[in-house]
Amino acid sequence: MRILVIGAGAREHALARLLVREPGVDLVLAAPGNAGIARDVDTRPVDAANPDAVLALADEARIDLTVIGPEAPLAAGVADLFRARGRRLVGPTRAAARLETSKAFAKDFMARHGVPTARYHVARDADEALRVVRAGALGEAVVVKADGLAAGKGVVVAEDRAGAETAIRTAMIDRAFGGAGETVVVEERLTGPEVSFFVLAAGSSYVVLPGAQDHKRIFDDDRGPNTGGMGAFAPSPLVDAALGARIVREIVDPVLAGMAAEGTPFTGFLYCGLMLTAEGPKVIEFNARFGDPEAQVVLPLIDEPLAPLLWAAAAGELTSGACRVSPDRQVGVVLASRGYPGHVETGHPIGGLDRVAQECPDVQVFHAGVADRGGRLVTAGGRVLTVVGRGADFQTAIARAYDAVSRISFEGMQFRRDIGRKAVVGSQSPEPRA
Ligand code: AMP
Ligand code: GLY
Repeated sequence: MRILVIGAGAREHALARLLVREPGVDLVLAAPGNAGIARDVDTRPVDAANPDAVLALADEARIDLTVIGPEAPLAAGVADLFRARGRRLVGPTRAAARLETSKAFAKDFMARHGVPTARYHVARDADEALRVVRAGALGEAVVVKADGLAAGKGVVVAEDRAGAETAIRTAMIDRAFGGAGETVVVEERLTGPEVSFFVLAAGSSYVVLPGAQDHKRIFDDDRGPNTGGMGAFAPSPLVDAALGARIVREIVDPVLAGMAAEGTPFTGFLYCGLMLTAEGPKVIEFNARFGDPEAQVVLPLIDEPLAPLLWAAAAGELTSGACRVSPDRQVGVVLASRGYPGHVETGHPIGGLDRVAQECPDVQVFHAGVADRGGRLVTAGGRVLTVVGRGADFQTAIARAYDAVSRISFEGMQFRRDIGRKAVVGSQSPEPRA
């Protein structure tokens, strides 16, 4: 089988490295990939958000199966074009990807299908949004979400009415997110620990993957601004068999059945961002793709070949159930550039990767914002590497990840020192906010 992985981050690196080592996989091509991914598999430059360019590459490289990592190619309709041409691809159509690309769509869809989520109001202009906040029916502290894709910056968890009003003006009057903020969702603020729950879906059939927990804030103890994710661990100790079954029954089943019933069946990785509230699990957001850095800790726990699962999903022939999962624990620490999640400096040489490869057998390093300069890897983005430690328990996995981190260095390297601690302490109270 010849497989094309679309994307350029550590998530795609994990996918590519796992797939290229599997029996029956003849070729893995990553596009555009990055200089770190290029050490494991071939890479090709392509504009991943240009469906014709991606299709041309798949044709030229005689690709059997294409897997999409990030949301931009989904929003651009790469899956629609591939499906129209009868090509096998893992990833939802543009219509099905609206679960991620339009928060208003996702909320109204959940209301139609009885999926538990925060109470909300969709507002199409600033006056309407401000009226909703002032009326107070959703509570004093509300969450304001730009409807469209806003690079992770479109959500404001407001402490009070004034904060919510500022967020509404930023999105709808100052148009800080362009068209993505023309509509906003105002919703009730929930409390509880957050978990990420993943299924690989093909219409109404799906395979349940291990749950994970992300660390979205930049600083230790969940302080500071939100990021794309500073680390993750899996499996989440909060998701036991009973809770997993409840999430499937109350969320996954009605969502996938509802998408199929509405004529937009979902194929691909469905990421359910959940808050475990006193009333049970509720949906915070959907993503129409795997999480990053969650993929780096979840995918290596799948104890069966991934390629046949992906092939079956793309063919719509998935048999529902759980996949075989390793009993191990995985903890992934993201190493980021100085300034992230704001403006970052790049071009700094990355040292220590050879030492990690030689001295840390239970560690994998996945590459994101890296470039090649004369045969040497240098930093080229905000999130640079995900360093994943594996062990029989979380303490061991954490120690192995941080032992490897201590051998890696680049100018301005920043990372959190508490990744995975929640899994050990086991006390996961509502997250403090900075
Ligand atoms: P999102 O961009 O949708 O992932 O939201 C970013 C973060 O905002 C989430 O990870 C939550 O921590 C927080 N958040 C979103 N919606 C709510 C809500 N209704 N109540 C409390 N926190 C929320
Ligand atoms: N780690 C969060 C995301 O992938 O959206």
